[in-house]
Amino acid sequence: MPEDKAVNLDEIEFKEYEPTLLPFIKESNFDCGNADLNEFLKEDVDMHYQESLTQTMLVIYRGKLIGFFSLLTDAINLGDDEVECFKKRGIRYKSFPAVKIGRLGVDVHYKRHGIGTLALKVIKGLAYKAQKYVGCRFLTVDAKQFKESIDFWEGHGFRKNLKENLRNRETISYRSDLLVPKQSPP
Ligand SMILES: CC(C)(COP(=O)(O)OP(=O)(O)OC[C@H]1O[C@@H](n2cnc3c(N)ncnc32)[C@H](O)[C@@H]1OP(=O)(O)O)[C@@H](O)C(=O)NCCC(=O)NCCS
Repeated sequence: MPEDKAVNLDEIEFKEYEPTLLPFIKESNFDCGNADLNEFLKEDVDMHYQESLTQTMLVIYRGKLIGFFSLLTDAINLGDDEVECFKKRGIRYKSFPAVKIGRLGVDVHYKRHGIGTLALKVIKGLAYKAQKYVGCRFLTVDAKQFKESIDFWEGHGFRKNLKENLRNRETISYRSDLLVPKQSPP
């Protein structure tokens, strides 16, 4: 697809991975520009599904695979200042439950068309649904140290997990708070 051709976001479908979709994935030319993510999708997605390690959603446009994301559960340690803030509100935990965006990739021919942003909206919707049954306060992601990745997460309001980033790592840990104020008891 030419870089400047618009994508009609209304035609984008999100399909939960299940094994009958594996041939469709293997036969696709999907390439998000990151070899690890490409390899995960073609080689490991089924094992992760079978072993309940991550759940993957495919992004499809006019019958073509143009993106995917994978989700799993997580827990993050907050910084001392943040723990103090929570303490003042009677919340005495250092570690908080989260949904982690394990992987997110958009095909190189479809980048900068708002598809990553749309996927993030879907992810948030799924996390809010999960919140009805499982406590999960944050969305987390280990961002690759590339401009497109950092700009994408920071542009969507993700903040660095200072405590998690203290140790040496190849990625940067980010989070976004999922709290939606609830009704108070009468
Ligand atoms: C990061 C990624 C998912 C973004 O997907 P996308 O569909 O291109 O994102 P969007 O079009 O929704 O971009 C939203 C905003 O993110 C920022 N952004 C995205 N790509 C960028 C780039 N290459 N350079 C600078 N900012 C960028 C911009 O602010 C952009 O808004 P704008 O286009 O209005 O300026 C995609 O580039 C990708 O697959 N990268 C390789 C894999 C990866 O790093 N995944 C994330 C970590 S797991």
